[in-house]
Amino acid sequence: MSESIHITASNKEGKYKELVPQVKSLLQQETDPVANMANFCAVLKYSMHFFWVGFYLIKNNELVLGPFQGPLACTRIQKGRGVCGSAWQKAETIVVPNVDEFPGHIACSSLSKSEIVLPVFNSNNQIVGVLDVDSDELNSFDDCDKKYLSELLSCLKF
Ligand code: SME
Repeated sequence: MSESIHITASNKEGKYKELVPQVKSLLQQETDPVANMANFCAVLKYSMHFFWVGFYLIKNNELVLGPFQGPLACTRIQKGRGVCGSAWQKAETIVVPNVDEFPGHIACSSLSKSEIVLPVFNSNNQIVGVLDVDSDELNSFDDCDKKYLSELLSCLKF
């Protein structure tokens, strides 16, 4: 059992490249999706220094807060609402450089300035929820985050 994650790179892509094999190895040791989502959030938040990292899972046609790391968050989001509900509706990743400029953005914390939301799929390629990552700085996310976060998500089995 690997007990900790070691990151030596100082740039974002370098950190992600070191994270991927370590997260794969960590998640392979456990089959429970909630346990794995919980550690996934902890590893990402503390390795990448994000403000908030969490899952919203589709239950009875709405998104319900799942495992997360960071401050208190809203618990339910309707389809098409906010960044998370839009990413669900489109089944596509949404990068928001400035949350104040995203129409309908749901502000769980006024400290969150930019975010990326990725759809999460099960093994039948059905969407089961979204991963939401928030930063307390503007313009934190780009194609590099999209690429590595989706690679990391593919290590989770639903
Ligand atoms: N900002 C998100 C809501 C979730 S929180 O940021 C944790 C949205 O607009 O969907």
